[in-house]
Amino acid sequence: MVHGAAGSTRTKILTMLYQHQHEYLSGQDISRLIGCSRTAVWKHVRELEHEGYRIDAVQKRGYRLAGTPEGLSEAAVTAGLRTEKLGRSIIFYDSIGSTQKEALRLADEGAADGTLVITNEQTAGRGRMGHNWKSQRGVMVTMSLILRPDLPIDQTPQLTLLTAVAATDTIEEITGLSCGIKWPNDILYHGRKLVGILTELQAEASFVKAVVIGVGINVNADMAEVPDELKKTAASLYSLTGRKYNLAEFVQLFLLHFEHLYQLYLKDGFKSIKPLWEKRAVSLGKHIRVRRPEGRILEGTALGIDDSGVLLLQDGSGTIRKIYSADIEWT
Ligand code: BTN
Repeated sequence: MVHGAAGSTRTKILTMLYQHQHEYLSGQDISRLIGCSRTAVWKHVRELEHEGYRIDAVQKRGYRLAGTPEGLSEAAVTAGLRTEKLGRSIIFYDSIGSTQKEALRLADEGAADGTLVITNEQTAGRGRMGHNWKSQRGVMVTMSLILRPDLPIDQTPQLTLLTAVAATDTIEEITGLSCGIKWPNDILYHGRKLVGILTELQAEASFVKAVVIGVGINVNADMAEVPDELKKTAASLYSLTGRKYNLAEFVQLFLLHFEHLYQLYLKDGFKSIKPLWEKRAVSLGKHIRVRRPEGRILEGTALGIDDSGVLLLQDGSGTIRKIYSADIEWT
């Protein structure tokens, strides 16, 4: 992570260079807008070059961003961000164990609503139901969003379904691929998983203090390099389309879609999200096997979700059961 005033001045300079990628910015303009000397601008530019940025410096014209290191940075995400609140505070790590764990820690310390924790590399990623989440450096979107909604605890799983809608919309807009959602929130393309979502809570009695939504999107991974156990079940957008994508653009568009849906949800409740989720659902009507968190297996037909987002499963005896949390699969 970049700490302190120097770090934030550098991020401001970089953000300006990103925002004017195709033109030169004079050292004088940068120093005036940021509020530091021209010598300080020059020193920060040299530091950025050490970090892998290519910056053209031409006398009488100024500086221009000519190349960026692979992967994400705080400035890359900030420069094209169109949200009002989400991601306006970004905590960026080049490498970290788990953004989720860090976001929970920061939420506990009082991090603001809408704070985004994001990294280029996660070394101990966490998945749902106690699984781990493997990811590769620089090719995935790996982030956790801290929210502080005024919601009863039992409604927070609805945010997981909302997140799945935001992620499918983002993928469709950028790549043109129409993905399906497997309840509650795996995003699949022809049965292969592209996105994992993990929602965790901090609560006191029935009061939600913070919700942390972790999202991993497999954008540019070369599937020849992923662990063998994932080769049959996972995919990357690169493996499906043959194109590499800008990770910052994914983050920015996801946050924008999420913010629109979240505002709708806070105003009108889950009824505004339910049809959007159902339109993309691929598990409904299927005979499924359900593995509950405690390990119990149930089988039946996935009838749909109820008005609170809970899965309705009809078992062999015709009884309709409510499934709040589980892994599901079908044959
Ligand atoms: C799953 O499908 O099991 C959920 C996977 C969630 C992975 C994301 S990546 C960012 C965030 N940090 C984590 O440690 N996990 C989530």
